[in-house]
Amino acid sequence: WATSASSHDDFLECLSHHTVNSSSISQVIHTPNNSSYSTILNSFSTNLRLTSKLKPSIIITPLNESDVQAAIYCSKIHDLQIRIRSGGHDYEGLSYISDTPFVIIDLRNLRSISIDTENKTAWIQSGAILGEVYYRVAEKSKKLAVAAGVCPTVGVGGHFSGGGYSMLSRKFGIAVDNIIDAKLIDANGKIHDRESMGEDLFWAIRGGGGTSFGLIVSWKVKLLDIPEKVTIFNVTRTLEQNATQLVYKWQHIADKVDNNLVLRLSLTSRKSPVLRGKRTVYVSFTTLYVGGVNELLRKMKKSFPELGLVKEDCIEVSWIESVLYSWFPVGTSLDALLDRKIKDLAGYVYFKRKSDYVKHPISIDGLEGLWKLMNQQGQSPPDLMFTPYGGKISDFSESETPFPHRAGNIYQIQYGLNWQKRKDSPKNIARIRKIYRYMTKYVSKSPRAAYFNYRDLDLGVNNKGNTSYAQAKMWGEKYFKNNFDRLVKVKTKFDPTNFFRNEQSIPPLLSYA
Ligand code: FDA
Repeated sequence: WATSASSHDDFLECLSHHTVNSSSISQVIHTPNNSSYSTILNSFSTNLRLTSKLKPSIIITPLNESDVQAAIYCSKIHDLQIRIRSGGHDYEGLSYISDTPFVIIDLRNLRSISIDTENKTAWIQSGAILGEVYYRVAEKSKKLAVAAGVCPTVGVGGHFSGGGYSMLSRKFGIAVDNIIDAKLIDANGKIHDRESMGEDLFWAIRGGGGTSFGLIVSWKVKLLDIPEKVTIFNVTRTLEQNATQLVYKWQHIADKVDNNLVLRLSLTSRKSPVLRGKRTVYVSFTTLYVGGVNELLRKMKKSFPELGLVKEDCIEVSWIESVLYSWFPVGTSLDALLDRKIKDLAGYVYFKRKSDYVKHPISIDGLEGLWKLMNQQGQSPPDLMFTPYGGKISDFSESETPFPHRAGNIYQIQYGLNWQKRKDSPKNIARIRKIYRYMTKYVSKSPRAAYFNYRDLDLGVNNKGNTSYAQAKMWGEKYFKNNFDRLVKVKTKFDPTNFFRNEQSIPPLLSYA
C-alpha cells in the first residue's frame, strides 16, 4: 500500500462519491484487492526495466470526462500524485511508476474516434492507439491520412503531447503541426477547449508534454489528402556492399529530397553468414514515397542512384497498408492494427533508448569508428535509427510549437537496445551509453538536443519535493531549447502548485529552489 489504510479508504470514498454513475464503479476503480488490478497495471507497462518500490494505490480507468474530473479532484485533496497513462509507451515508464504515493489514471476506455471526412478533421480521445486511429480513418476514406507515429500500439495521449514523427512528416509536418483543438482537464477539474484554455496553453501541450499541464482528454486533428497508392521499399546493404559510402551520401540528400520521400535508415550489427560468422553492419533503407513507383524510381535515380534501386524492390500499396507493413509481414490483415499488446508485437520486455540530432554530415572516418564500436559490442549491440528531417518539418520556426528540432537538422538518431533478462540491464545500458559518448563530437551541441518523446532520464531529472527551475533546465533545454522558458511561464500560470508532475515535468517558478 502506498498510503495508510484510512487515507486510502477516504480516497476511495471520495472517488465513489464523485464518479457520476455508481453502478459502473467496479469498471472505473481498481484496488490491489481486485483481480483486475494486476492485469490492468501490467498490460500497458511496456518497459519491465523500470520498477519502483511503490505500486499505485489505485488505478482509475475513467469511462467519461466526469470520472477524470473526480479522479483529479480526489487525488488533489488527498495529496496523491497522479500518473496519466494513454498507451504506456513512455520509454522510462513515467506513466505507470513513481517513487511517491500515486494513482494511475489509465485512459484505455477513452478511445473514441470521430471522423468528419467532409471537413477533413477528426476528434480523437487520448486512450486510442495510433493503429486504431489509422484503421478508423481508412475505414471512412482511403484518400485521407493522419500524420502520426509509425508503431500502431503507441497511445495518442503521450504521442500527440510530445511531438509525433511519422513517415509522412517530411510531407505534412509532425503530429503536433496538425493539431487544431484539444480538450484538457486542469488541476481544478475544469474542462477547457482551445478557446477557453488560450493560445499559450494550447501551444504548450503540442510538444511540451501533456503531463506538466493537465490531462488531455481528446485532440482535434487535420486529416490529410493522400493518393490512393503510395510506394514502399526496404533495401538492405552491408559494409561489404558499400554501406559506408551509401550512408555518407544519404546524409547529403536525406533532408533535401522531395518532401514526398522519407528514406529512413535502420542500422544493426549482426553476424554475417557470407563472412563465415564475422560481424558486419546491416543498413536497411526503409522508405515511404507518397506517389507511384515510376515517379519514385525517377527521383531516386536523380538524387540517390548509388543505392541501385530497381522496380522489383518496391511495392505500391494504399497508405493504410504502408502503415501495416512497417510492422507486419506483407499480407497481414488490417485488423492487426487494432491490437494493443506491444509485448506480443515487438517481442521484448526490457529496453533503453537515447536520441541525438545531426546537423553536419558525419565523416567517413566517423562512420567507420561507429561501425567498429557497434561490431565490438558482443552479442547485443545497440541498433541505430537515422530518421531524416527537412521538408515540411523545417517550414515551422523553432518556437512555433515547443518541439524545436526544425530547419538545420539533417536527421535524428535513435539508439535502442532490447533484451530479455533483468540481469542484463547494467551491461546493456552501459553499451548504449558508450555509443552515445562516442557520438558526442558528431551531433548537435549547446545543447546536445534530444527528442522529448524518446524520453531519456540520463539527461537529468527533477529534484524531489520542490522542483527547481535550474535542475529542470538541464534536461529541459535539451528537449525544448529556448522554448523551455516559455513552457515554465505557461506552467506557472496554469498549474502553480505543481499538481501535474513527474521526474521530467516542467516546473512552475513559484517552487524555484
Ligand atoms: P504513455 O501513456 O506512457 O505516456 C507518455 C507520457 O505522456 C507520460 O508522461 C504520460 O503521463 C503522458 N500522458 C499520456 N497521456 C496523457 C494525457 N492524455 N494527458 C496528459 N499527459 C499524458 N515516437 C514517434 O514520434 N514516432 C514513432 O514512430 C514512435 N514509435 C514508437 C514505437 C515504440 C515501440 C515505442 C515504445 C515508442 C515509440 N515512439 C514514437 C515514442 C512515443 O511517441 C512516446 O513514447 C509517447 O510518449 C508514447 O505515448 P503513450 O500514450 O503510448 O505513452
